[in-house]
Amino acid sequence: MASRITQSLTFHQSPGSFIFDRSQWPDSDDTTRAERIPPVVTAEILNRNVHIVSSYRLCKAILTCNETSGAREAEPSSGDARLDGQKLPPDTFTAGPAYEQLMAAFFPPPDILLQDGKSHHESKNKWKTSFAGLIENCIPHVEILTRQALNLQIGPFPRDRPFDLYEALKDFAWDLLLGVFLGLRRDTNKKNFGEIVSRQEDLLRGQFSLFPVALSVPFWSSARSRGLKAVRNLGPAMRKHLNHQWERSQQPSESGQSCPFAHGIKAGSSGLSEEEIVSHTRLFTSSIANKALASLLTAYFMNMFLWRDSEHQHDEGSLASLVASQADPDTRHSMLSSILLETARLSPPVVGVMRRSMETVKLEQDMAPDESSSHTIPAGHDAWLYFVAANRDPSVFKDPGEFRWDRFMSGETSQDLGLAFGAGCKTCLGADLTHQICITVMHTLLDCGLKIEGRVEEAGVKQWLGWDRSPSPEAMARDLKQLPCQKPRRPVMVTLCRNSME
Ligand code: HEM
Repeated sequence: MASRITQSLTFHQSPGSFIFDRSQWPDSDDTTRAERIPPVVTAEILNRNVHIVSSYRLCKAILTCNETSGAREAEPSSGDARLDGQKLPPDTFTAGPAYEQLMAAFFPPPDILLQDGKSHHESKNKWKTSFAGLIENCIPHVEILTRQALNLQIGPFPRDRPFDLYEALKDFAWDLLLGVFLGLRRDTNKKNFGEIVSRQEDLLRGQFSLFPVALSVPFWSSARSRGLKAVRNLGPAMRKHLNHQWERSQQPSESGQSCPFAHGIKAGSSGLSEEEIVSHTRLFTSSIANKALASLLTAYFMNMFLWRDSEHQHDEGSLASLVASQADPDTRHSMLSSILLETARLSPPVVGVMRRSMETVKLEQDMAPDESSSHTIPAGHDAWLYFVAANRDPSVFKDPGEFRWDRFMSGETSQDLGLAFGAGCKTCLGADLTHQICITVMHTLLDCGLKIEGRVEEAGVKQWLGWDRSPSPEAMARDLKQLPCQKPRRPVMVTLCRNSME
């Protein structure tokens, strides 16, 4: 019992070093230790039998086994996941039962995240259709929000003093999510804006509290109980703001800056019920979406402004100035995109996802030391797919732990992109939107002639970014917080200044 609790706490503290400490690899070649995390490690976490999968191909086989199961198009193939791309039988691994304990109370139905099979397939199609025009409509809005954030006195980026990069980008990510999905602004809707943020943060704290009891007595309530109260309050708040947005959009003077789903809530035109729109807007504006976006933007900003390749240590050697100096807009865009994809591969905001095995399955391990070995996951056990290691799998990525900004430039050989947004039928619904948001923010910053200055000193942060590939799981555990999303443990202080080249 004590060991189970210890394992849960140690995992919660640092999944990376938890896995590394259970590594069975012979410790022969020290320089490649961190690149050789074993493909599967077993543990008991949160009273569950867990198989933590770090092989890219095994993760992908598990994620894609349900790709067509909702539509019932696929015939079951071989029972093994192998290097040669054979698929697992559909429905071998499901998400709902794995997430149930941690999420169901906080993201009650109808919520796509917990759905599998046919109902998931139907919801996903409806949401994909609703998201189709979203990017096009909201990107001009993202540019306006970015300019506002850079100019506002009360905005997240102070001009006159150093600030904590992650905290500023977390505030900014709230501006973006609440601006895009609820039409709320921190300056003109201060009270409502603050209320949503604080309830969403309560919800996430409740969800991640390792104290799985809802207890409320006078003067004290557990994080879980506060989280559950936030869920109850957020529903009506979402409904109120969506309705308000719809009413505003009916006024002729209003431009297209309202929430994309507000129309559907009244007109029923989207094919989505009011209940679905409310429940999903709670998910799209959640603290986990906020933290994931802030995490990605932090790593992206650091790579763009603070990274120097060994030959260009001076200021003009930043990727931001290299991109800004490109005359051709397509080249600029392709560079920004490649840098973002490489950032997401090395520094995935969400460390991984959970699945439950519905039948006993034998996975063929595709990595040394023993090529012929296999790993069995019994029915009812969990597979936790650890993206951080899978995205640095040396059998898939050349120089896996190294930040190579041009890795995904168009024209390069077709490459696996990494698993930061999942894969298969449960791939993140917000992935394209997130990509476009990050690129638009960066374009806007460069257009405004602004840059970020600062230094990254901590070894674990440099390894997280792939700047320093000498492996030290201890430094990563010390310098990086991994849950619920990855970020530096201590502030990285930076300043925002005008580019002298302008
Ligand atoms: C950097 C930001 C983000 C990251 C890293 C991220 C990551 C992920 C991952 C890994 C999954 C897969 C879950 C699984 O397979 O079990 C997922 C699912 C999902 N994400 Fe995101 N996400 C991000 C932002 C967003 C945003 C902004 C939205 C809202 C627009 C969003 C909406 C969703 C939804 C609805 C799902 C469930 C999809 C399904 O079950 O079919 N995500 N996300």
